[in-house]
Amino acid sequence: MPVFTSSTRDIPEARDVPRHVAIIMDGNGRWAKQRLLPRVAGHRRGVEAVRTIVRTAVERGIGYLTLFAFSSENWRRPADEVSILMELFLRSLEVEVGKLHDNGIRLKVTGDTSRFDGRIRGLIESGETITASNPRLTLTIAANYGGRWDIAQAAREYYRRHPEALADGAPLEPDALAPYLALAYAPEPDLFIRTGGEQRISNFLLWQLAYTELWFTDRLWPDFDAACAGGANDGFARRIRTGTAAVRDSERKTRAQKMTEDSWGRARHELLKTVGQNNFTTWIEPLTLAEFQDGIARFLAPTNFMRDWVSRNFAEQI
Ligand code: IPE
Ligand code: IPE
Ligand code: MG
Repeated sequence: MPVFTSSTRDIPEARDVPRHVAIIMDGNGRWAKQRLLPRVAGHRRGVEAVRTIVRTAVERGIGYLTLFAFSSENWRRPADEVSILMELFLRSLEVEVGKLHDNGIRLKVTGDTSRFDGRIRGLIESGETITASNPRLTLTIAANYGGRWDIAQAAREYYRRHPEALADGAPLEPDALAPYLALAYAPEPDLFIRTGGEQRISNFLLWQLAYTELWFTDRLWPDFDAACAGGANDGFARRIRTGTAAVRDSERKTRAQKMTEDSWGRARHELLKTVGQNNFTTWIEPLTLAEFQDGIARFLAPTNFMRDWVSRNFAEQI
């Protein structure tokens, strides 16, 4: 698994479909209030909106989706609301992990989970383990997450691993810190969405949003659906095409260079689905991409499905 470092160093790729979308899901309380319902009703509908958006992300081929579910500041809410949110989180983990796994989705939970109830921590650990090698979409739930916490914990971890740097008083460079940030397994978000009308970051991914396109909508989170996600996506694609995004055409990489770990992951997933997970997992795991392509060409291309699929996805590589 590569560690993604800061896009301040590398030229970000231009793409119509964002590789990583990060969302502040805001407005559950107001949604409920508008309907004279208790806030919990808004949070429940919010969970349904999460399901919709995960499905949409998979359909659109987004590789990483990160959702802000509970901030380190949300503990300050009334105790009964906090306990309802914890209960919802627990139930969602119980009910959803199996479905995520069936759909090839990898679950990650990021944040200071030490403050959660043991049952929640257990479900997070087993959910992450079960889904660890799913390549289709990485769904990260930010829970008890704070951007400042993230940067501080990365610095602590860096010095724990490099005690000599502390002793020498050597300056800590940004690139050295990046691998210890909570989302080092994901590319930096290329699209950020906040629902609910507020236009602030609220201590979300402070480091990782440095070059992200920001998209704010008045739509309340429980009303956020596939069409809204499409709108955000189209807006993102338009900014990329018209050059208002941070990337210029001349800096775009060639199609071949865009052969990223994402499409490799998807290729592997499709192959495993086609040929049967059990027989091939151990066979495929240690293969390099080139060996994998060679394997497809020699053993699997004769099947219609694989031939079509390979020519659709690897026309320029094989
Ligand atoms: C976001 O909705 C959900 C969480 C923070 C858990 P809110 O609960 O903040 O809803 P509003 O902002 O009060 O409408
Ligand atoms: C941001 O929403 C945090 C989450 C969505 C988890 P809040 O409603 O808590 O943010 P502020 O306090 O209004 O900035
Ligand atoms: Mg709010």
